[in-house]
Amino acid sequence: MRRFTADPVARADVREMVRLATLSANAGNAQPWRFVAVDDPALLAAMRAAVEERLDEVARWPEAEGSGAAPNAPAVRKATTLFADAPLTIAVFGLPYESRIDRLLTLRGVSREERDRLRARPDLQSVGAAVQVLLVAAHLLGYGACWMCAPVLAAHRLEVLLGAEEPAHLAALVAVGVAAGPPAGGRPPAAAGRLPLDEVLRFLPAEPKDEGT
Ligand SMILES: Cc1cc2nc3c(=O)[nH]c(=O)nc-3n(C[C@H](O)[C@H](O)[C@H](O)COP(=O)(O)O)c2cc1C
Repeated sequence: MRRFTADPVARADVREMVRLATLSANAGNAQPWRFVAVDDPALLAAMRAAVEERLDEVARWPEAEGSGAAPNAPAVRKATTLFADAPLTIAVFGLPYESRIDRLLTLRGVSREERDRLRARPDLQSVGAAVQVLLVAAHLLGYGACWMCAPVLAAHRLEVLLGAEEPAHLAALVAVGVAAGPPAGGRPPAAAGRLPLDEVLRFLPAEPKDEGT
């Protein structure tokens, strides 16, 4: 959901959404998430300004020219700043998670890249699980929500505005509000629905092909 009415989001509802989100599966029950709910229009405006400033800055990078990326194009700007048009935004922070295996890999001198390959970021997977439940909880409580990672491009400035403390890092913003009309599609494939199941799922051993007899 990307369009919201001006109706406020009750703080009791925010508590319930986040409570449900924290029931999510998470690696080692480390609960590597923190949530900051913002319903102050002045702070949302400051967050929008920080993100817009960042988009302008990135658009001026020499690498942006001819890269095909248009960081400050109107559609990108909208998909990056729409959280500020919502009555409430929940900033979701991730905390580092280190299991014994992670420590072992570090001792072994395994590179960060290889460690991410072998461990597949259980910290971020846990945060993602919680954000998905947050979205469903918002829906069940009568709201619409939009999961947003694009504004994280301005993470450093947003973290200061939101009073984040190390080692918490911004993972996503979730815009929440009463839906104004049906869900507004983003760029494809959102507009086009979902890939056919057979394109994203295969069984092993493979299913015998239908010979069409
Ligand atoms: C990790 C993640 C990041 C996303 N970031 C954004 C974003 O920055 N802006 C936005 O408008 N939508 C964002 N979305 C929403 C997706 O665009 C949307 O879920 C997808 O296009 C499928 O559409 P649907 O969820 O409405 O079916 C994000 C979703 C996920 C899971």
